[in-house]
Amino acid sequence: MSEDKFSASFKESSVAEFFKRNRQMLGLYGKLRSLTTVIAEYVCNSLDACEEAGILPEIIVKIIPLGEEHYEVHVIDNGPGIPKDKVGKALGKLLAGTKFHRLIQTRGQQGIGASGCILLSQVTTGKPSKIISGTGGKPLYMELEIDTAKNEPKIKLQKELDYDYRGIAVKSEFKEVNYQNSSQNALEYLKRTAIANPHATIKYTDPFNNTYIFERSSGYIPKTPKEIKPHIKCITVDELKTLAKDHSKKTIAGLFKQEFDRVGDKVIKDINSLLDFDISKVTMSKANWEMFEKVVKAIDKTKTFAPRLDTLIPIEEKYLEESLRKIIKPEFLSVLSRKPTVYHGGYPIQIEVAIAYGGDAGQTLANNEKKLELMRFANRAPLLFDAGACGITKAVNSIEWRRYGLKDIENLPLSILVNLSSVHIPYTSAGKQAIAEEEEIVEEIRKALMTAARSLGLHLSKKRHLETKMKKRGIFLNYAKEVAEGLHLLTDRNKKELIDKLEDIITKKLQIEEMNEQEESEDISEGEIPEDAEEKKSKGKKDKITDYFEADGDHDE
Ligand SMILES: Nc1ncnc2c1ncn2[C@@H]1O[C@H](COP(=O)(O)OP(=O)(O)O)[C@@H](O)[C@H]1O
Ligand SMILES: [Mg+2]
Repeated sequence: MSEDKFSASFKESSVAEFFKRNRQMLGLYGKLRSLTTVIAEYVCNSLDACEEAGILPEIIVKIIPLGEEHYEVHVIDNGPGIPKDKVGKALGKLLAGTKFHRLIQTRGQQGIGASGCILLSQVTTGKPSKIISGTGGKPLYMELEIDTAKNEPKIKLQKELDYDYRGIAVKSEFKEVNYQNSSQNALEYLKRTAIANPHATIKYTDPFNNTYIFERSSGYIPKTPKEIKPHIKCITVDELKTLAKDHSKKTIAGLFKQEFDRVGDKVIKDINSLLDFDISKVTMSKANWEMFEKVVKAIDKTKTFAPRLDTLIPIEEKYLEESLRKIIKPEFLSVLSRKPTVYHGGYPIQIEVAIAYGGDAGQTLANNEKKLELMRFANRAPLLFDAGACGITKAVNSIEWRRYGLKDIENLPLSILVNLSSVHIPYTSAGKQAIAEEEEIVEEIRKALMTAARSLGLHLSKKRHLETKMKKRGIFLNYAKEVAEGLHLLTDRNKKELIDKLEDIITKKLQIEEMNEQEESEDISEGEIPEDAEEKKSKGKKDKITDYFEADGDHDE
């Protein structure tokens, strides 16, 4: 290409322009998926904002049909709102928000959720989104678009309203989207949101004007998320180089102690023992790329303290059980949470799983048959799409369910729920529908599922026993009537008395059998569902956390 031609064809673009042309990267593609994603993004923002402000969320969601493949979406919350001078930038600019580069458990983390939806609305309808933001007192009304060439908010109209309101209310129109009865629609999304967020009240009106109310479980106030400092196990050479600009005068050790989580004198001493220079003496500005490389390698080999794990906000076993019983009404339920641990060196994670059987568990097919349903969650936000590419699905598929007496689980009335809590969810894409197959995460999910599978296996084997016994009783009682008839003819004794006596004998005999069985039942269950060899292997495996972290408790902060 000639220099002139090159210059003539050289262009620059804005991030808004990029996402306008590549909206699939934000999960905004497919008629059903786009509409569900819009609801998901707005609702996640409401839940995040309420959680940070310590407010119990009350969220109203409405989808109103306006024409063929044309809908209006309303999401109204009672959260803290956005300060007047920041509404435009927060919602009308991509890659802008309050959740960047923070190690804190929130649902959004990239600053492209709501703003991406406002972009989708304007490119499919040519109309701005209508926003009301109140922080207490009279709220601000705004009609907002994104100037895609500049990636800046374009405010069409702005005025103060004459009533009091606190929260965010968004109204956006969308075309080229569609609402269907589907396990991936907004109703399913909100149902799952209610299961994993028992502290929220959600009122939803679907396009057919049906209203669903998911009431909050009483007494549950989730922790407010806390930001943690990064862990030195996660540091890269490039990040050290960048930090050197702002912290040029500090020594490397000083920076570690001040800016990173739980670094004390012992850790510094251990890092130093692997180096040919002293990080307590070398300042950040004096260190070069090669020295930082050596430091990162030394950190990799040094035992450090596990990151703070108390910043995670799980659903909690008690509340998860309560909401599953309320919403799914299962015949059998096993809920369990693993202890918090870490992945990738320094990101805290916690896994919660639940297995629900019977009742409304499982996915209902068109012919009313039931199928296995996997409910995936990241930081209590449902993941409805891209199941095949998700680490959670991989973990579920890797379990040998047959070993727990669970044959053909695909066709059981079964719901499996997995929630991953972390200050940094490793999503596979900006659409945030699947999590990466991180080894430590997959292993944690597997361990939890194996325990839950064992409980379900025992329940089903006991149920089979009971059914056999009831069948036996039925057969005996039928015979009793015939035997009584015969005895009555032979002995002339009263038929009713004979039947009563025989029934008595049968009941006693079955009771004795039952007592014997109960004594043996422990052996039966253990015998029927032997401990999985894999489970043993998993148990035997030293937890990753103990491999490279010092035991907690005696740290030198
Ligand atoms: N309902 C809401 N209540 C309060 N603040 C909100 C709400 N929705 C969005 N925000 C603010 O707008 C920012 C941008 O939102 P969004 O584009 O969805 O990105 P993200 O959620 O990833 O930060 C958020 O970081 C938050 O500060
Ligand atoms: Mg968001």
